Amino acid sequence: MKQHKILFVDHIAALGGAELSLLDLATAHAQTSKVLLFQDGLLRERLELAGVQVTIIPASKTMLNLRTSGGLNSLATIPELWNMAGMIAQEAKGYDLILANSQKAFIIAALATLRGSPPIVWYLRDIITAKHFSRVNRRIAVFLANQFASKVLVNSQATGKAFVAAGGKQDLLDVVYNGFDSRRFDTVTIQDINKVRSQLSIGNAPLVGLFSRFSYWKGQHLLLKAVEELPQVHVILVGKALFGEEDYVSELKSLASKPELQGRIHWLGFRNDIPTLMKACDIIVHTSTEPEPFGRVIVEGQLAQKAVVASAAGGALEIINDGITGYLFASGDAIALRQRIQKLISDRNLAHTLGQQGYVSARKNFSLENLLDSFEQALLEVLEV
Ligand code: UDP
Ligand code: GLC
Repeated sequence: MKQHKILFVDHIAALGGAELSLLDLATAHAQTSKVLLFQDGLLRERLELAGVQVTIIPASKTMLNLRTSGGLNSLATIPELWNMAGMIAQEAKGYDLILANSQKAFIIAALATLRGSPPIVWYLRDIITAKHFSRVNRRIAVFLANQFASKVLVNSQATGKAFVAAGGKQDLLDVVYNGFDSRRFDTVTIQDINKVRSQLSIGNAPLVGLFSRFSYWKGQHLLLKAVEELPQVHVILVGKALFGEEDYVSELKSLASKPELQGRIHWLGFRNDIPTLMKACDIIVHTSTEPEPFGRVIVEGQLAQKAVVASAAGGALEIINDGITGYLFASGDAIALRQRIQKLISDRNLAHTLGQQGYVSARKNFSLENLLDSFEQALLEVLEV
């Protein structure tokens, strides 16, 4: 593969799904590329460990805390945006292109094109709807994309559809799905799995895993509701509130303190051993109440060879073939979720079959090679112009 000189830009340095995916791309291009972050954090450490060069241009707290769902208050930061755009243009000298991995990074990098930077590609990983983005923010981002982006990569067809519905140009789009190294899952040993289960002291009880940052739309509350009436089931909640949603965690803690759930909900915090933890589960669930743009955890659950039950919307519909490579349930419906979990617990063969079929599908459709090929293909179109 030819190594293009890419300046990756992201305003986040926590380990969200978009950043873990950036880590894969930047690692593959480490020899010629660089990552620019607007704050320091775990992502910087992981990138450097992987041999990727990182530069941090610190943004003010006001700018980092600007909510994408906020409104015109963003005007207050225009001088800072312009200043940062200048710094990005400076950093981008000698690179073939800028790859913006978040909406804020894209907006600033788009302004950098006015200050003489190379072509810009936006990797859009969010479903742009009123639920997550204010009208002003949607308009600004879509306008800048139509005007300045050489290409908009989207993490699913669902993300692409929402972009077009918000006024984005269809011909800018290319779907680039996330890709995964299945070896991280295949090398987990039975000893690793037993260790996790024995630390939980759950014996042979069915274990359901939910791996996600805590945020209302990720729907952890639905799982707590779903297992209330499944007294034999234990749950691991893996993740933390990455983007200041601690109030939701408090709400969940109070839900979990109900007598029906006592001792059955295990809070594991943010973890780096996702493959082992998934393999220790019997079922993996994905519970987002809003359409998930892609849903890395769904593919990871399949790679762990587990039956995955996912909320039927967004990227999940492109990953799971219902009843074959996993199960789908109507978004937000805790009873439907409970029924799927119950069925899988009572029919272990079915759970095994879905897990196996999911694994085959994930390896075929969402490999690291697929990711790098489709990424490369999309970039060639920009670089050949
Ligand atoms: N994840 C992790 N540690 C945790 C919880 C989650 O590394 O404690 C990872 C998970 O394995 C997945 C990513 O975080 O790769 C979440 O990505 P996803 O696309 O599912 O959701 P996002 O948070 O990006 O919306
Ligand atoms: C975003 C989306 C998530 C997706 C990830 C990687 O974080 O919320 O659904 O899987 O990006 O593209």
